[in-house]
Amino acid sequence: MTPPTLTENPFTLGVASGDPLPDSVVLWTRLAPHPHEPGNGLPTQGNVPVRWELSADEHFRRVEQSGTVCAPAQDNHTVHLDLRGLEADHVYWYRFHAGRWTSPVGRTRTAPAADALVGEARLGLISCQQYDEGYYTALRHLADEDLDAVFFVGDYIYENAINAQAGARRYPADRALPDFYNHWTVNLDDFRQRYALYKTDPDLQAAHAAHPWYVTWDDHEVENNYAGDISQDNLPADVFRARRAAAYRAYWENMPLRRPQRPNGPDMRLYRRFQYGQLAQFDLLDTRQYRSDQAYGDGWRYPGPESENPARTLTGAEQERWLLDGFRNSTATWNLVPQQVCFARRKETTAARSKLSMDSWDGYPASRQRVLAGVEQAGIENFVVLTGDDHVHYALDIKKDFDNPASRTLGVEIVGTSVSSGFDGEDRPEDWSTMTAANPHMKYYNGRRGYVIVSLDEERLRADFCTLPGVITPGAPVTTDASFVSEAGAPGLRPA
Ligand SMILES: [Fe+2]
Repeated sequence: MTPPTLTENPFTLGVASGDPLPDSVVLWTRLAPHPHEPGNGLPTQGNVPVRWELSADEHFRRVEQSGTVCAPAQDNHTVHLDLRGLEADHVYWYRFHAGRWTSPVGRTRTAPAADALVGEARLGLISCQQYDEGYYTALRHLADEDLDAVFFVGDYIYENAINAQAGARRYPADRALPDFYNHWTVNLDDFRQRYALYKTDPDLQAAHAAHPWYVTWDDHEVENNYAGDISQDNLPADVFRARRAAAYRAYWENMPLRRPQRPNGPDMRLYRRFQYGQLAQFDLLDTRQYRSDQAYGDGWRYPGPESENPARTLTGAEQERWLLDGFRNSTATWNLVPQQVCFARRKETTAARSKLSMDSWDGYPASRQRVLAGVEQAGIENFVVLTGDDHVHYALDIKKDFDNPASRTLGVEIVGTSVSSGFDGEDRPEDWSTMTAANPHMKYYNGRRGYVIVSLDEERLRADFCTLPGVITPGAPVTTDASFVSEAGAPGLRPA
């Protein structure tokens, strides 16, 4: 079949790179001459050849590799180029050409060799970018940061209807969104279009073009607070599995992921492991696809026999075994676990019996206990959980016994606030003093939008919590609201 002729610029959704290995990185783009139309202005059949170039300099004077790859119609004209033969710990620039059009230039970086001694790693932590709740100013600032890679830990899209004004963005008439977005995402076309909408954002494009990303999802890539094949509203399982399959398919198409992550119907292997020299191991989790249903109907509830049932799981048995095996075999200084929902306990009040979030690890305490036992048994000294979901920054110590502040600190948790979800937010909640009294292991809170920069070396971890005064108008500045450190071999966060 003759490839469709491109008469307009197809590179409207930017470029991306991801999942760096010492010799490889995935390069991504999606052809969309008309991003706001179903099909993106391309025929539903026919693959488009896309030329690509990889260079050691940003002006492409020294092109190191080049070739042609196919943007298949069946993948909605997305490209997933799994480059090999690269140099470890190396910065590269890349771009694509299709027809007479050239994409924006992306910058990426391979991981250090597995046996390399790494001086420092600087990693961004972001999550939760509800389009209609604010601008992606945080991502524009993230693009300007000097980082080796970025972790995106869930809620890349949201499934809600978006009106012509794009909600809090208040688009004027000449930028009004088509009516197509004004319904909830259910089928494959809906999900594909939702990614197109999000990816038209120039700040999101800038953040992808600046750094390689390691991505994992949370709930809103499919539906709020789903659990396995159980939907929030308890849809028939086959109906929900079809929705999940559509959502997973569109997710893979739109992320810089490799073939092993390509879904098979409603199943997609997203949890995966990366080595970052001798310095760190990254174990990215998927706590949505295999979890037991939330106890007590979800929400903030008193824990009890239902939530504490040891048969319940947040990771599924297979992923849990994989995680604990990974801890046992790890020789890295730092074990980072980028994942979705809050790991440390968060009590609502100081009462001995207090409500807990049934959607977070608090709703699956036996699952958490098995992970912590695995950390201890493997002798993991520097266990670091990186989290999203809560739309606030937290610095948390992970205690062996959360009821006993004097008990051993087994690790630390950095929860990064949202990019835009939750509108502008506020610095402190009204009940901040109750929150710290109820949770002495909680060292810090900020409820504004932003991101975290996690830097690691052989001696310590540092978390810089960056915030913006607001996101419902564009262009806000970023400031570092607080910085915390934790020493290697002696976990526990303290102000830097
Ligand atoms: Fe979220």
